[in-house]
Amino acid sequence: MKKRRLFAALTAAALAVSMTACTSSSDSGTASGSSGGEKKDISEIVVGLSIGNTTEERWNREIEMFQDYADEKGFELNTQIANNDANKQISQCENLINQGVDVLIVQSLDAEAAGPIVDAAHDAGIKVIAYDRFIMNSDLDYYVTFDSYKVGETEAKFVVEAAPKGNYIWLKGAPEDNNAHLVAEGQKDVLQPYIDSGDITIVTEQWCKGWDPNEALKHTENGLTVANNDVQGVIASNDGTAGAAVEALAAQGLAGTVPICGQDADLAACQRIVEGTQTGTVYKPLAPLNQAACELAVAIATGEDPKSSVDSSLGTWQTLNNNTKDVDSFTVDVEAVNKDNIYEIICVRDQFHTVEEVYANVPKDQWPTEADAAAE
Ligand code: GAL
Repeated sequence: MKKRRLFAALTAAALAVSMTACTSSSDSGTASGSSGGEKKDISEIVVGLSIGNTTEERWNREIEMFQDYADEKGFELNTQIANNDANKQISQCENLINQGVDVLIVQSLDAEAAGPIVDAAHDAGIKVIAYDRFIMNSDLDYYVTFDSYKVGETEAKFVVEAAPKGNYIWLKGAPEDNNAHLVAEGQKDVLQPYIDSGDITIVTEQWCKGWDPNEALKHTENGLTVANNDVQGVIASNDGTAGAAVEALAAQGLAGTVPICGQDADLAACQRIVEGTQTGTVYKPLAPLNQAACELAVAIATGEDPKSSVDSSLGTWQTLNNNTKDVDSFTVDVEAVNKDNIYEIICVRDQFHTVEEVYANVPKDQWPTEADAAAE
């Protein structure tokens, strides 16, 4: 039996109160709108959002984007954050399902462990969208993501172009996150010819559980010790772990001399790029990813055609296999960002961070201007 808490019609103020409030609103009280193709008004729907963690900067921004979209369109969003605990994520999703959300969006912590969430949702007639991270071995309905293989390729290219020979430290992402495996594949395909020719030697190759910077710090320190500090490149899989690796390099007086990559365009990483201690980052534009997920969720919940409801200028539909089925997946493109284009892409074009933020630690007379960007 699905339970639904009925509240009086929400006021705009109530909508803005808290993204974590466990409320739902409906004046129909009928079964979930995600099943049986029944039509619902957008003001009646409840979207469940399960976020695995907020450790990385991006997830906080995305939670805000989801809430802004819901506020603007006038539907209820029920956001739950699992604080890096995969079991907690499962029980939070069970709660959302029991409350009768019309559709469930999940940014999973553990690609395998999240499978039962899909089963439980389906038992209740609720469709599931995997957000950013795939849910493996399940009858998942939709997936909205970036091209993680391309992320890995782009990352490794930053480093091999700057240091085509030498000893490398290779920091992979979270083994429990399917994205980390795709990223590692992309990195490997770029590195392999250099490894085969003997130009590049991997002195250490390690996963960083939970994308934890502490793991990256430890592995980088070990790699530096093994190689006697004779390291020419670091492949880091995201900006958080890159930051920790730069810390380890700095402790040996090597920050800024060893090329290193990351992904996400976290503010700290953008600052390192303009300061010269990180070579580049893979920028993942969060706005189109988020919009695509929102449009898809609303279409499912209101009974519209899901795929045609997503603005096709935001990305591309394809199918991706999760070891159980080919899942309809919407993929948003990524971009290489380095010292040369960071101002133009991050500060001016997308206003992902402001120039004041990115160049905070650079003397003001060295800041780029709009005229520099136009000249590029
Ligand atoms: C991945 C995601 C990356 C990065 C990483 C750390 O799943 O693709 O963008 O944020 O998680 O959380």
